[in-house]
Amino acid sequence: MITTDQPTAFDVVVIGGGPGGYATALYGAAAGLRIAVVERDKVGGTCLHRGCVPAKEFLETASVVRTVAGAKEFGVQAGQPVVDFAVSQGRKQKVVDQLFKGLAGLMKGRGIVTFDGTGTLLPDHRVRVDPVGGGPAIEITGDNVVLAPGSEPRTIPGFEIDGRLVLTSDEVLALEALPASLAVIGGGAIGCEFASMFSDLGSQVTVLEALPSLLSGCDRDVVSVVARSFRKRGINVHTDVTVSGHTPNGAGTTVDFGGGESVTVDAVVLSVGRRPLTEGLLADGTGVGVDERGFVVVDEYQRTSAPGVWAVGDVVNTPQLAHVGFAEGILAIKAMLGESAIPVEYSRVPWAIYCHPEVAFAGLTEAQATEAGIDVVVKKDPYGGNSRARILGETDGLVKVVAERLPDGRAGRILGVHMVGPWVTEQLGQGYLAVNWEATPEEVGQFIQPHPSLSEAFGETVLALTGRGLHVG
Ligand code: NAI
Repeated sequence: MITTDQPTAFDVVVIGGGPGGYATALYGAAAGLRIAVVERDKVGGTCLHRGCVPAKEFLETASVVRTVAGAKEFGVQAGQPVVDFAVSQGRKQKVVDQLFKGLAGLMKGRGIVTFDGTGTLLPDHRVRVDPVGGGPAIEITGDNVVLAPGSEPRTIPGFEIDGRLVLTSDEVLALEALPASLAVIGGGAIGCEFASMFSDLGSQVTVLEALPSLLSGCDRDVVSVVARSFRKRGINVHTDVTVSGHTPNGAGTTVDFGGGESVTVDAVVLSVGRRPLTEGLLADGTGVGVDERGFVVVDEYQRTSAPGVWAVGDVVNTPQLAHVGFAEGILAIKAMLGESAIPVEYSRVPWAIYCHPEVAFAGLTEAQATEAGIDVVVKKDPYGGNSRARILGETDGLVKVVAERLPDGRAGRILGVHMVGPWVTEQLGQGYLAVNWEATPEEVGQFIQPHPSLSEAFGETVLALTGRGLHVG
């Protein structure tokens, strides 16, 4: 709602209330700045309403299905699980709604003024707000303006999004019933999460990926574990294939790919990347530079080419991760305040992909290190030898640590930590610290891991890099 008694001059105006925007606002308000956020939908953005949070909630439903299906092995008679997807949807929405309420309350409590409308940057740090639902536009100003409009799913020619046969993550997360079969186009983070989730929920899934492997940015040993698990669970993965189009027939559609192959499915999910949302964001004469792909161009402190205008989150060409948006928002506020600020080291941010088995990593893969001309020492510890993983019955996976090779052949600085397996998204913390602290195996190997725990796999791998592993040679 926009009311006439709202102030119109602020220290910082943020356009967009997703993770990049709300982190900027919360951090700025905590630092004593007067902040406005312009948001045309709900604060929380894609992450909370159409992305990370609802997707992970459904992935947790998938995990419950796996647990119940495997209960017999523990001597627990539970029968074959049956998914009532309407109930799953309802639970997901409850989780999202609670978090939304919490976030909106937190922002209000910090004195952040939220304008319900579409923001357009005008010259001289002015922002026009076109109210949701129409009515006259108003103008607000900020000593600084932060652009955080986010991104939207990319589409491909021949696949019109209709919300029934062809879906993006936006529509998938609002489905009312489970499709019996589906084709996922794009085997990146979103594609693998959806493929894993729908397969566990009982759908027949086919993944069509243009590159030679799934999860192309991940270490190849990690990708192999995911690919093997997908195969075992009956997910059909076709890599190195071009998708040429689809032909609707009756209730479903037939997708053509490769050299004359096809698959008939109930629905198609496009997960071929996301593009920045800059249409209508910038009026003429703002001086903000945008590259040929639509990303707002920034320096390492999130400054655009217009003084006092900053950009954070998916609208800049950095990893499209909510937590990277948070970090960029904090960095922008610190830089704005003239405080000492450390630019984000993008090659070492934490990644967490919540398919089954989960993937988490930070730093260079073995291939990236080798391509960069770095001589490396590598150790791996499969979860098969880990007692907690055996107890859980979740032994697919491994921890792999990549370290620089010192002239005497010993392992030096830890360059990358790559994990795939049970709860690795929650285990990455130590690996992330090791990589970003530029720690050595000797230093990290001193630390004690609780026993029995999944985190012992990381400890074991690092110890093995010192040349004296307990269980890993
Ligand atoms: P992505 O860039 O990770 O993967 C897209 C995949 O689609 C690539 O492997 C690409 O080769 C493939 N592709 C592109 N065009 C294709 C075509 N015509 N036919 C077949 N394959 C094609 O993008 P994704 O998965 O859509 O995710 C978007 C962004 O959101 C990414 O930056 C991703 O990292 C981020 N994200 C991260 C998550 C996480 O870390 N858990 C979860 C969801 C999204």
